Amino acid sequence: LDNGLMRTPPMGWLAWERYRCNTDCTNDPDNCISEHLFRAMADRLAEDGWRALGYEYVNIDDCWTSKKRDAQGRLQPDPKRFPSGIKALADYVHAKGLKLGIYGDMGLYTCGGYPGTTLDTVQIDAETFAEWGVDMLKLDGCYSNDSMKAEGYPKMSAALNATGRPIAYSCSWPAYQGGLPPQVNYTQLGEICNLWRNYGDIQDSWDDVLNVIDWFGSNQEVLQPAAGPGHWNDPDMLIIGDFGLSYEQSKVQMALWAVLAAPLFMSNDLRSISDKAKEILQNQMAISINQDRLGLQEIRNSIQNILFVFQDKYFEVWKRTLSKGEYAVAFLLTANDGTPRPYLANLAKLYIVDCRLGYKVYDVFDSSFLGIFTLIDVIYLKINPSGVVLLHISPVCV
Ligand code: GLA
Repeated sequence: LDNGLMRTPPMGWLAWERYRCNTDCTNDPDNCISEHLFRAMADRLAEDGWRALGYEYVNIDDCWTSKKRDAQGRLQPDPKRFPSGIKALADYVHAKGLKLGIYGDMGLYTCGGYPGTTLDTVQIDAETFAEWGVDMLKLDGCYSNDSMKAEGYPKMSAALNATGRPIAYSCSWPAYQGGLPPQVNYTQLGEICNLWRNYGDIQDSWDDVLNVIDWFGSNQEVLQPAAGPGHWNDPDMLIIGDFGLSYEQSKVQMALWAVLAAPLFMSNDLRSISDKAKEILQNQMAISINQDRLGLQEIRNSIQNILFVFQDKYFEVWKRTLSKGEYAVAFLLTANDGTPRPYLANLAKLYIVDCRLGYKVYDVFDSSFLGIFTLIDVIYLKINPSGVVLLHISPVCV
């Protein structure tokens, strides 16, 4: 969507995966969906180095409203959990130099059973969000049929635009249509939305992360051209810092979301996140790969491991072309059967050949400079089980 927003993939925090529809503020005051939670996360984003790295959105997901609209037909926040209202929350978030995202659903109800946005309430909802000072809307797609979605998603795009307030627009539409043409029209989506969920919900497990990666890899011919500045594929939230991923698996998610040019919305507890998880999420080179200006998504290549050809079934190699003749390549070892495996690469086999003099190679998560390599020098890598090595590769030619 050409509204000047999200020229690089958006970054921030989103409540859903970690906090779900927890409305029990009596027994679980620190983790229920309430203004307290979003203020706490805004504090952490601003004070713990996140905002400075680009993590700027604080996003509300489902279950924030009352069970009913107000007398004027507007959505209203639950009065017990959001006593100060959304406008006050937006002011709070803005004062911290951050942006506020909110959630709606094109349909009769949200997925959690709260009031949805129907065709006749699109306009009033867009106006309400703009009046509150909201900066982003995720529009989900439960409880509506195909034709309602086909009318509703473009209608909301136009309604947001008509408010005059810059509001980024995240469309869950394709995830409800199987994510692929001909049901999904990526040309149209790129014109009306800034990002969109293509596929199912991520859950807090390695299997889910692999499943998402695999789907994006298998459908890259369709997905890769759909993404670019202002319009992004969204493989869903980062679950790094939660319960399901090991340290190595956490690096895999960060590496892949970087090469996929994916939105980086963490869903975790920034108040108690471990130093190791924080280090991965705050890795500056991984973030700069994700945020590369060219905005080209990855290509998963069937590149041969030059010596351990017989082991190729274990590895996936993902290569993203960056601006300034640079590249990012992720070597992923999906098997988790025991031991680190060697991978012998060279630039020629990675089709990185434009600069004949060679390239500087950095290991992103090791934060180490591996050296300058000619096109045929062997780059010896060792990849941990269900782990990754992410390289940043830049030409010595300028
Ligand atoms: C759907 C969406 C999720 C989340 C929930 C909320 O499942 O895909 O991301 O928003 O609804 O109920």
